[in-house]
Amino acid sequence: MQISRRSFLLGASAAAGALALGGLAGCARPGVAGDPVGPGAEVVRRLEAQRRTAGQAVVAAQVTARPVQVDLGGPVVSTWGYGDTLPGPLLRARAGDLLQVRVDNGLGVDTSIHFHGIAMSNDMDGVPGLTQEPIAAGESFTYEFTVPHPGTYFYHSHSGLQLDRGLYGVVVIDDPAEPGGYDDEWVVVLDDWVDGTGRTPDDVARELGMSTPGDPAPGTGGMGAMMDHGSMGGMMGGESMRSDLLGGAGDVNYPYYLLNGRTPADPVTLTAAPGRRVRIRLVNAASDTAFRVGLGGHAMTVTHSDGFPVTPVDTDAVLIGMGERFDVLVTLADGVFPLYAAAEGKPGHAVAVVRTAAGTATTDTRPVELDRQVLLGTALSPPEPVRLPRRSHDNYLSVDMGGTMAPYRWVLNGATFPDTAPLTVAQGQRVRMRLRNMSDMFHPMHLHGHTFALVDGGARKDTVTVRPMQTVEIEFDADNPGQWALHCHNAYHQEAGMMTTLSYRA
Ligand code: C2O
Ligand code: CU
Repeated sequence: MQISRRSFLLGASAAAGALALGGLAGCARPGVAGDPVGPGAEVVRRLEAQRRTAGQAVVAAQVTARPVQVDLGGPVVSTWGYGDTLPGPLLRARAGDLLQVRVDNGLGVDTSIHFHGIAMSNDMDGVPGLTQEPIAAGESFTYEFTVPHPGTYFYHSHSGLQLDRGLYGVVVIDDPAEPGGYDDEWVVVLDDWVDGTGRTPDDVARELGMSTPGDPAPGTGGMGAMMDHGSMGGMMGGESMRSDLLGGAGDVNYPYYLLNGRTPADPVTLTAAPGRRVRIRLVNAASDTAFRVGLGGHAMTVTHSDGFPVTPVDTDAVLIGMGERFDVLVTLADGVFPLYAAAEGKPGHAVAVVRTAAGTATTDTRPVELDRQVLLGTALSPPEPVRLPRRSHDNYLSVDMGGTMAPYRWVLNGATFPDTAPLTVAQGQRVRMRLRNMSDMFHPMHLHGHTFALVDGGARKDTVTVRPMQTVEIEFDADNPGQWALHCHNAYHQEAGMMTTLSYRA
């Protein structure tokens, strides 16, 4: 280390001083001096070398990003995917393994893959322009890194609005010391869907008023794609908008919501025997939609959030923001039940049929569980083994979220990427970060390369949904050097520039 422990602390007190004066927006930002530690830095290479062990298992996989036709259970759409089904192939390894994923780009445009939630080596993080060159049309790239922690993760394109097509899949990292306690496992991926229904995500962006590459002039801010934020209390599409927990819907009205790639018209069926205990790995791969998820006739026990264990808690339903994951346990009753994911604040839902007996299913009725106890990720707490050890912070960073629908502009600390000021840290610091939502839209904020803790005993997470005007503080140890994206996981907000970097300096 070039920087002494003492200079960390000096930096921290300067930061504290700036905060005491309320000096944030527009002022010089507190931070760490030094040159950026890039993805190719020796310290990054050395850290990955330390993670590799003799006799480490290698899990190799290959995906091709390419145009595909997918049957959503009724509508057949032309889109881009990693296979003929949604989601793409499940990738599965054990903690400590070396994951090798070769990506062949058959799209005709640049692409990339980010392995969301995995604290891997910075050069494999898949953010074009920050950690690697984009994978050009016709080219290949092999992501190769040690997976440090067990859990439920997902992979998706990190280029433009490709996430809002079919370019996503799930990564399950098994725990070699899995305590078990369940009989079956289901992976359940939620998505909001527009591509191939007469519009593409790029069309939606234009409708929102975003200019996209190739547009002669900035968009006009037309309202075609937008949610009508003014009438969310009423009835829309025949489905009542109950009190919404996020103080607003997303920005986009989608024609379909998908559970494992299927619309409610022809949902997937998940089958097991009554009395079985099932672990459901819930992943929200949507671009603009949070979901309220419950299983009719059942309570669920939340056991993990964003891959990491939580102190198990019983609930009727969970609210899952874009990029979040929850693992829940349910003990199955006898019958046929809807696993129902209502688009929060929007009309529409995704559903699966859970079947433990013969009989017909009603999957179009919203189960009462969704309007009882609904758990948010911010309410969870960590069990002792994953609790971030108490320590005072060396570096305090502030991130203010802001923005408006018209013009369509979403900012962090008043700027859009790449003009956002990097948040600078030094390796070894305990970093505390304030995420303050100054807008009237919720934002699921995602930090790459780290799993943070919600302060004051909250759960470990990598994506936290921050409600309008809410402030959330997080803490983490700066133990994974490199340049890491921090952004809103609303794909349209991110594309509009709601992103900055956590920038290690040395
Ligand atoms: Cu899943 Cu940078 O995102
Ligand atoms: Cu956002």
